[in-house]
Amino acid sequence: MTQTQIKDVYYTETYRPQFHYSPEANWLNDPNGMVYYNGEYHLFYQYHPNGTTWGPMHWGHAVSSDLVSWEHLPIALKPDSIGAIFSGSAVVDWQDATGFFNGGSGLVAIFTHAGTYPDSDRSKQVQSIAYSKDNGRTWDLYEGNPVLSDESQLDFRDPKVFWHTETNRWVMVLATGQTISIYSSPDLKEWTFASEFGENQGFHEGVWECPDLFQLPVDGDESASKWVLLVSVGDNADFVEGSRTQYFIGEFDGTTFRNENSEDTTLWLDYGRDNYAGVSWSDIPQSDSRRMYIGWMSNWKYANLTPSEKWRGAMTLPRTLSLASGKRGIRLIQSPVEELKALRSQSILLKENEVIEKKEVVYTPDTNSYELEAEFQLGDASSFGFSLCTSSNEKTIVGYDVKSEKLFLDRTASGQSDFHQDFAAKHNAVLSSKHGKVKLQIFVDWSSVEVFANDGEVAMTDLIFPDRDSRAIELFAKNGQVELVSLTVHPLKKIWK
Ligand code: FRU
Repeated sequence: MTQTQIKDVYYTETYRPQFHYSPEANWLNDPNGMVYYNGEYHLFYQYHPNGTTWGPMHWGHAVSSDLVSWEHLPIALKPDSIGAIFSGSAVVDWQDATGFFNGGSGLVAIFTHAGTYPDSDRSKQVQSIAYSKDNGRTWDLYEGNPVLSDESQLDFRDPKVFWHTETNRWVMVLATGQTISIYSSPDLKEWTFASEFGENQGFHEGVWECPDLFQLPVDGDESASKWVLLVSVGDNADFVEGSRTQYFIGEFDGTTFRNENSEDTTLWLDYGRDNYAGVSWSDIPQSDSRRMYIGWMSNWKYANLTPSEKWRGAMTLPRTLSLASGKRGIRLIQSPVEELKALRSQSILLKENEVIEKKEVVYTPDTNSYELEAEFQLGDASSFGFSLCTSSNEKTIVGYDVKSEKLFLDRTASGQSDFHQDFAAKHNAVLSSKHGKVKLQIFVDWSSVEVFANDGEVAMTDLIFPDRDSRAIELFAKNGQVELVSLTVHPLKKIWK
C-alpha cells in the first residue's frame, strides 16, 4: 500500500471514533497511569494486544501534548510471573523518594498485579510498582514487588496514588471489595493501612473498582475546598444500567475520608451508560491547576459484544472537573477540556432567536463528527430537542422534558443494538432550567454521543452504532413552542493522520 492509501484508510473503519482515543487494534478498557510530565500527558490503558475481547491485561500507552491528538506508543507493561497488569496510576517522584532516580525525578507506576495462588484458581491481587527514567518509554519493575498484599482480600485492586502535602506522604486509595481502603507511604515502597471507607455508604450493588480522591474548590473558592472520592461500581445482572461511577463529597485529613452527605445518598458522575472506570490526571502543573478526567467509554454489561471489528474500546473526551453548589447541594460539574476547541472548523450559526414548533431538519453534516451548541428558552412545548444521526429508520434523540425537568437520551432506534438486550434504552437525568433556559453542548462521533447540559451540570455519555448515512440533525418541539436562542454546529476535525 502506498503512503496516500494508508492515510486514506487510517481510522476509517465502521464506527471508528474520529476524535476520541482508541487503540489501532485490539481491546481497550480502563484508563491507567494518567500523569503529566515534561510536556506530555500520558494515557496508559488496560489493553489486550492479542484480541478484541478482554484477556491477559497489559498497559497500552499513548501520549499527547495537547489532550486532543494522541501518539500511540509501544506497550508499557506486560504480564509476568506475578500476574497480569490490572488498573493503577502513575506519579512523578519529584524528590526521588524511591531512590530510583539518582536524586533526580522520574515516573513511578503503581498497579495491581493479578495472578492466582499456587495450586488453585483463587485470584491473587497485589500491588506492585515500576519506574521509568525515560519519560515512560521503558519501565523497570521494582525488585521488591509486590509492595502491598493482603491474602484475606479477593478484590484488592486499582491503586490511585497522590502526594498529600499536609501530611508529607503518599496516599493510596484502593478498591477492596465493597469499600475503599486508604494507605500511606513515605517512599511508594512501604505502605501502611490508614482507614477504610464505604460500608453502607452510597451504592453497593456491584464490586467497587477504580477509586480516585482529590480536592477541588467549591464555586472556584479555594478556601472552601472539598474532597471528591470517585468509585466505579461493577455490573450487576439485576440492573440494566450496568457498570457506572458514583462519587462522594466530603473531607479528607490524610488518614480518613468523611462523607458529608447522608450514607444513603448516591451521586452519579454520568447519566449515560458508557463512562466507566474514569480517574484524573496526576501532576498537572500548579499554573494550570485543572483536575482533568477521562473515562472508558463502554459498559461491562456489553463491552465484549459491541459491533466494532479490529479494535474494541475508546475513551471519553478529556473533561475538566469542578464543584458547584446548587439547590440540591454541592455537585460535580464536567466540561470538555478547552483544548478541544482546536478541532472546530468552519463553525456555522444555524439558528438565532427562532421559535420552533415542529420537527425540521436543520443540517446534514458530511460525517457524524461534530459538536452542537444550543440554548433554548422554555415556552409551552412539553418537550424539545434533537434527533441526531437520523435517517428513515435510525435516530438518537437528545431532548428535554419540561414538566418532569428531565434531560433524556434515547438510543432505542440509534442503529445496531441487537448485540445485547439492554443496549437499546432511554435514560434520563434531572436538570432544572436556569432562568427558563436549557443549554446543551453535544459531541457526536462515529459511535458515541456526549451531552453536557447547563455548562456541565449533567453529563450523559452513550455509545451508538448508527449507519454512516444516518446523518441528519433534526430539531423538534412537541405540543407547543420553544425558543431557540441560538444553535451552532462545529464540524470537528479528525485527530488521526
Ligand atoms: C474495571 C476493572 C478493574 C480492573 C480492570 C481489569 O473496569 O475491572 O477493577 O483492574 O478492569 O482489566
